[in-house]
Amino acid sequence: MSTLGTTGPGTSGATAVGASSTGTSTGTLSQAGSRMTSLGGFDPAAPLLQVSDLNVRFPTEDGSVHAVRGVDYALRSGEVLGIVGESGSGKSVTSLAVMGLLPQSARVTGSVKYRGQELLGQSDRSMSRVRGKGVSMIFQDPMTSLDPVYKIGYQIEETLRSHDKSLSSKAAEARAVDLLELVGIPSAKDRVRSYPHEFSGGMRQRVVIAIAMANQPEVIIADEPTTALDVTVQAQIMEVLQTALQETGAAMVLITHDLGVVAGIADRVLVMYAGRPVELGSVEDIYYEPRMPYTLGLLGSLPRVDSTNRERLTPIQGSPPSMVNMPPGCPFAPRCPLHIAECDADEPPLVQVGPAHNAACIRTDEVARAHGRAAEIFNETADDAVLSASALPADLATGDGAREATAPGTPPPSQTEAGAGRSDTGSVVSTANTAPTTGTTNGDRA
Ligand SMILES: Nc1ncnc2c1ncn2[C@@H]1O[C@H](COP(=O)(O)OP(=O)(O)OP(=O)(O)O)[C@@H](O)[C@H]1O
Ligand code: SF4
Ligand SMILES: [Mg+2]
Repeated sequence: MSTLGTTGPGTSGATAVGASSTGTSTGTLSQAGSRMTSLGGFDPAAPLLQVSDLNVRFPTEDGSVHAVRGVDYALRSGEVLGIVGESGSGKSVTSLAVMGLLPQSARVTGSVKYRGQELLGQSDRSMSRVRGKGVSMIFQDPMTSLDPVYKIGYQIEETLRSHDKSLSSKAAEARAVDLLELVGIPSAKDRVRSYPHEFSGGMRQRVVIAIAMANQPEVIIADEPTTALDVTVQAQIMEVLQTALQETGAAMVLITHDLGVVAGIADRVLVMYAGRPVELGSVEDIYYEPRMPYTLGLLGSLPRVDSTNRERLTPIQGSPPSMVNMPPGCPFAPRCPLHIAECDADEPPLVQVGPAHNAACIRTDEVARAHGRAAEIFNETADDAVLSASALPADLATGDGAREATAPGTPPPSQTEAGAGRSDTGSVVSTANTAPTTGTTNGDRA
């Protein structure tokens, strides 16, 4: 099967995007096998998480920002649902609404049910029963979750005790050490007494994952858990997330703007645009047979390792619409190469285009003919060329001793590690118009 820089979509226990087997996760939970059943008062037979017609509006001076517009999804036990979309598409607001963590000014309507019970409108006290043990959340920036003034171990122990008051200090500390070992923190017995600032960014994110899995939740929502990290550390964190899923048996909502990140771990993918779902399908549907031009555009912006020919990246031109007073019609219309007059009449509903595959577009048949090849529909122009640094001097393109920039398998400069020559490469590219170089830059990819 073709791959997208991963071991393949939906592969059970697959290594995440670009990941090598680093073996960073060690240890097992001493309480292995004590997987929680459902929280008391919730129906274990009901769907794990059911989000229906979720709408979120924020009143602002410029008018009401309709940030989330009719989001529907159901999360099944043990599955990983990837939520993908550009910045501002409503991914985080959707998840914060599920967790009951939006500011009071937010106007939230619709329904969010966990194990059959409505969460919207619940008091903070009721929600604290669900948070951590039913549904836990991992934020993009670990320092959002970690308190800089408390030791790591104390913060994990507090999380444990918040759902089990009978847990002794000794047992809580032992479990904190187990959890740190599980997420690959070396010398966990000593590091449990460290403060967050004594850890690197990647180690802090491991700690946050340890906290998220501490009470063996049924659902983990991970909101861009790797975006702030170096590409190698990203791959390690994806491995740790998979360890967390295996150990807890939790289902996961994985939010990212990068389709490549979800390829190796997700079962289904929900694509969001302008606050609403525009495509939902299995990871194979989304990668190989997308039916919404926006999804196709996202794929076209992603280098593919299964590409046999030199193919151009096809970035989506323009920007998403303002979420204040949106005009009628398809919100993707100004950026869509398949736009026709009928698209401006009404916003297309999400319709079924295959078994368990839905898309919001009136021209899904035309999109289907592209079979996931964005270049069939999106045309690259001189202005939107993605730089490939073709034939730049190797030592400037990818760091000392690196292979030629266009050699097969070479990651794009943005996906190399710190110190691997990214800044130098960027300098060459950005000065290409003023200082002659021996290479060329164009939209080709190797
Ligand atoms: N408190 C708020 N008040 C007003 N508008 C808000 C508020 N929080 C979020 N928004 C708006 O809601 C929209 C969706 O934001 P959200 O944070 O969910 O985007 P996102 O998809 O998570 O983007 P990113 O990938 O950048 O994290 C944005 O237009 C944002 O400006
Ligand atoms: S409805 Fe029209 S404008 Fe919208 S995505 Fe489909 S073809 Fe493009
Ligand atoms: Mg976000």
